[in-house]
Amino acid sequence: MSDASRLRIAVQKSGRLSDDSIALLKAIGIKLQIRDRLLIAHSTNQPVDLLRVRDDDIPGLVMDGVVDLGFIGQNELEEKMLERQASNRPYAFKTLRELDYGGCRLSIAVPNEMSYDSVQSLQGKKVATTYPYLLERFFESNNVNASAVMLTGSVEVAPRAGVADAICDLVSTGATLEANGLQEKDEVFVSRAVLIQSAKPLSDEKQELINRLLPRIDGVTQAKE
Ligand code: PRP
Ligand code: ZN
Ligand code: MG
Repeated sequence: MSDASRLRIAVQKSGRLSDDSIALLKAIGIKLQIRDRLLIAHSTNQPVDLLRVRDDDIPGLVMDGVVDLGFIGQNELEEKMLERQASNRPYAFKTLRELDYGGCRLSIAVPNEMSYDSVQSLQGKKVATTYPYLLERFFESNNVNASAVMLTGSVEVAPRAGVADAICDLVSTGATLEANGLQEKDEVFVSRAVLIQSAKPLSDEKQELINRLLPRIDGVTQAKE
């Protein structure tokens, strides 16, 4: 069941943004019954459908106008913009709100026993990451000749597995780094959750609904301060 007149919102299916994004939607009065196995959830009191997908897919879905809104981390968004710029594909979208959750940083981390004075210590090294475009931009802006090794998961085990010398991965509490004998050294990108909208013009009904929802988001955010 997909109905083009209903507002389509993409959220991460499971991960650091899922619970807070769903909680925010519920707090602004959108009733939702999430069934774990299902990709789509229809609101029972608003013309809203929720699409539950991998966070990596959300920027592209919004940029292609497949969904109208998306809750996403700035890290994934910036990475997808760089990827699309590099291949001359459209990457337009509108940022509606910066949100007060999903805070994390994309950082360079190295094994405890590796000497590291500055980013220059990465010269000639291999760095494992899920964010090769952000990492390569960081290398370029620091004039470092190093290579990004793309891994979609388990980045933190790459040095031990002999796949890379260092990593560039998301850090929030630092527990993952500590558990893997790694030390955070340099910040590549600081991120939080944002609400984005497709650049494609929407029907008046959908745009009016969005315009009614935004002040409620502001109200919920301010009430938490
Ligand atoms: C990130 C990252 C680490 C973890 C770090 O993964 O890849 O595994 O978070 O968080 P910590 O500093 O609090 O330990 P994420 O939860 O985004 O999932 P993913 O790697 O499966 O995308
Ligand atoms: Zn992800
Ligand atoms: Mg992880």
